[in-house]
Amino acid sequence: MSELNKIALQILSNGKGILAADESTATMTKRLDSVNVNSNEKNRLLFRQTLFSSLSMKECIGGVILYDETIRQKTSDGKTIPELINSSGSLTGIKVDTGAKTLAGSKEEKITEGLDGLRERLKDYYKLGARFTKWRGVYSISDQYPSKLSISVNAHALARYASLVQEAGMVPIVEPEVLMDGNHSAKDCLNKTSEVIRKCYEELELHNVNLKGTILKPNMILPGNKSGEKLSSEEIAELTLECLNNNVPSSVPGIAFLSGGQTEIEATANLNEINIKNNTDFIMTYSYGRALQQSALKFWSKDTNNITGTQEIFDHRAKMCTLAAQGKWSKNLENKK
Ligand code: G3H
Repeated sequence: MSELNKIALQILSNGKGILAADESTATMTKRLDSVNVNSNEKNRLLFRQTLFSSLSMKECIGGVILYDETIRQKTSDGKTIPELINSSGSLTGIKVDTGAKTLAGSKEEKITEGLDGLRERLKDYYKLGARFTKWRGVYSISDQYPSKLSISVNAHALARYASLVQEAGMVPIVEPEVLMDGNHSAKDCLNKTSEVIRKCYEELELHNVNLKGTILKPNMILPGNKSGEKLSSEEIAELTLECLNNNVPSSVPGIAFLSGGQTEIEATANLNEINIKNNTDFIMTYSYGRALQQSALKFWSKDTNNITGTQEIFDHRAKMCTLAAQGKWSKNLENKK
């Protein structure tokens, strides 16, 4: 087994998942503003450090994705954040793209940037303790989108990124996110996501990326949030499995979904159903940002010194997601805290 494959499996095996705490400062400021907490370096660290020292880090969280600011921060007792994360057996990851910018040639769409100087930045992140990375391509659905151009250039960027990351000895998370915003149907989401994922693997293979040392982070197949279409978790799971089964090469060891604006319970219930129905060899787990942190953030914002209370809420969510990653979750477990 290659070193990269080992890292991927260490992050995803036994129901473990990923805590995506890699919000850029601008996004984290939005999250903190929404609960009336001042977004400064100290508060961003305090909230994140609270989560990273929770009990569930040991049993549930195989990896944490950080933002550049956080990977360089230290706890009050002088540990680096990667040291804190590693102390519970979890691995440190880092978001290495520099964000989605307007795509010249299709101005309503985005292209993710960050390839310039990436080889040097990766060496630095490895020294700081990172063993896996994330790059997010973003696509929207409408009559005309995602365009062939956006599908092609984002796949190309994801493949160049993944290849550089493996060269630096780390596992790339490949994240093509087809947004749920809009009035498209679940069928549209299935077709467009399939096209996006197919193109990503075409480029990854062209760039000689070792797929066994990668993790895919896709969206689930959902109807647009303004479509009015309602699907059960069973239906979402069937469509999501159809998409992944038909388009992801079998050498990919695991798939860690993003939550993408689903509520905590929706993201958990849908992942659970995906695992109940999973007829593939892929590990299917979570790499959630909002669906792991929302309730904990809300609670913490009322009293930022209540570390234990905040951790209990986070631990509960992580435990529910880890049960869902094994198809063992049920709604009534939500009340037994
Ligand atoms: O890139 C997206 C994040 O890593 C996952 O965030 O679960 O809130 O969509 P989300």
